Amino acid sequence: MAVALITGASSGIGEEFARQLAPTHDLVLVARDVDRLRQLADQLSTAHGTRVDVLGADVSTRAGRTPVLDRLTDPEHPVDLLVNNAGMGYATGATQNPVDDEMYMLEVNAVAKVHLSLTAVQAMLARGSGGVINVSSVCGIAPAWVDSLYGTSTATVLRHTEEMAYSKALRASDVKVMALCPGDVRTEFNDRAGIPDKTDWGWVDVTVLVRTALADLRKGKVVSIPTARYKFLSALMKLAPNSWSKLYGYDLGRQHPEIPAAVPQPAARP
Ligand SMILES: NC(=O)c1ccc[n+]([C@@H]2O[C@H](COP(=O)([O-])OP(=O)(O)OC[C@H]3O[C@@H](n4cnc5c(N)ncnc54)[C@H](OP(=O)(O)O)[C@@H]3O)[C@@H](O)[C@H]2O)c1
Repeated sequence: MAVALITGASSGIGEEFARQLAPTHDLVLVARDVDRLRQLADQLSTAHGTRVDVLGADVSTRAGRTPVLDRLTDPEHPVDLLVNNAGMGYATGATQNPVDDEMYMLEVNAVAKVHLSLTAVQAMLARGSGGVINVSSVCGIAPAWVDSLYGTSTATVLRHTEEMAYSKALRASDVKVMALCPGDVRTEFNDRAGIPDKTDWGWVDVTVLVRTALADLRKGKVVSIPTARYKFLSALMKLAPNSWSKLYGYDLGRQHPEIPAAVPQPAARP
């Protein structure tokens, strides 16, 4: 059976990928909360009879990522699909947050994702096939948008994915890479970041998001944007020059005046 490795599988979008892939794939579930991963692994292996391994790892450092990199390059146990999803955010802007916290976000959301994705792609190219879903965001499509390295990190992942997808090496192979750009999805993301539970453009159901992403990967799409509403918003955002951000872009502090500047960020660090 094909094997899928999913980072950030202990909740939200990653957990839903695990649920939808379990009937057809053996799984390797990665996150820091090993107890939660074990509970999910038990449920999924009982329900589907598939093999579900748990890999506790903190992807925020090179050393923390090493077991995941080793698993992705293990020639005895090839990974057919990487869902590169673990990520986090903050409610307050980069200009207000401690710089170290912003660097931490960049490491988790951008450096780790690029490190895992490039490693997986090179291993897949050597074998001749495989797939990678890099979870970015509609924020990554927007021009210079909010006062946050969240946008920077998701744009990095999107750009990296597109550059690989259009490379000669990938076009000549059966290795597919795709960036998934969700809009607002109800997960633990906002709670962990301390962001109020609100959406300007509507919630995307997590089951629809993941179903669409898996279908888009099968179709060979390079970027997956769920729902017509977010596709329309993304098309508009692509047309807007960066300088227009001062008209419609928002400062996280002004958008959410109830959030005091430089609040301590919950769950930012293990
Ligand atoms: N929810 C949205 O509206 C939305 C929109 C656009 C993009 N996204 C992206 O979707 C991805 C998943 O987010 P989500 O909404 O599902 O949030 P979530 O429910 O908070 O899940 C985040 C996952 O990432 C894991 N994680 C966080 N930091 C980690 C670290 N240092 N090492 C290893 N694992 C780590 C968490 O597990 P542990 O705490 O157990 O480690 C958890 O499983 C993120 O990349 C996010 O940027 C989300």
